[in-house]
Amino acid sequence: MRRKVIAGNWKMHNDLKQSEDLIKSLKELLKDKSVNCDVIVCPPFTSLSEASKLVNGSIIKLGAQNMHFEDKGAFTGEVSASMLKSVGCEYVILGHSERRTIFDESDETINKKIKKALEQGLKPIFCIGETLEEREKEITKDVVMRQVEKGLEGISSEQMKKLIVAYEPVWAIGTGKTATPQQAQEVHEFIRGLISSKYGSDIAEDLVIQYGGSVKPDNASELLSQKDIDGALVGGACLKADLFMGIITNA
Ligand code: PGA
Repeated sequence: MRRKVIAGNWKMHNDLKQSEDLIKSLKELLKDKSVNCDVIVCPPFTSLSEASKLVNGSIIKLGAQNMHFEDKGAFTGEVSASMLKSVGCEYVILGHSERRTIFDESDETINKKIKKALEQGLKPIFCIGETLEEREKEITKDVVMRQVEKGLEGISSEQMKKLIVAYEPVWAIGTGKTATPQQAQEVHEFIRGLISSKYGSDIAEDLVIQYGGSVKPDNASELLSQKDIDGALVGGACLKADLFMGIITNA
């Protein structure tokens, strides 16, 4: 039985004080609640260290939003996997569509990052998904297949057990447009099938596949009740503790 995982991708929001306030509010809302899913927050780099202290002892786990694939060196502005580990991160979001489009990250780059994260003991939240143009051309499955094949090249079965996939149709991110539960379920099932043919059915059945793209408390329940949707990667709605809590409650 897969446990649902709700992760909040804060993107470039919240300075240190705002980050502390958001985590404190979320902890307050979670207090004494029995929660049936894993909860992850992914603040900006500058807040990770303090966030780590605040989530300590709660059910909230910590993730980062990106990292470089090299261990160290002359890479101005970059952050390594071991640096993220040293401030208490357990997860790292890799291959987010904003990284792919705005920062030109290729499938090959993302693959290198996934390998390095796993090698260093970080769990990747590996994001994939098609653009509106690709959906209209009816090549969603081709795009997702390419992203999965290239992104996971050289990843072993053992490593796959540590990884989360997030299916995020690019046209649904930050737009208020959500994929219908049926549209999302269809792609999730397809992704699980891809993993099954590559790694076998046991690994595919255990793989957590999150949906992302304008998830809100009022659409979470229907999305999360689909057979192959195992959680949510939340952007906008994770910036308000009560909205994020609404999604957690629905999981
Ligand atoms: P959104 O973002 O919930 O604001 O659409 C999701 C994401 O980018 O991970």
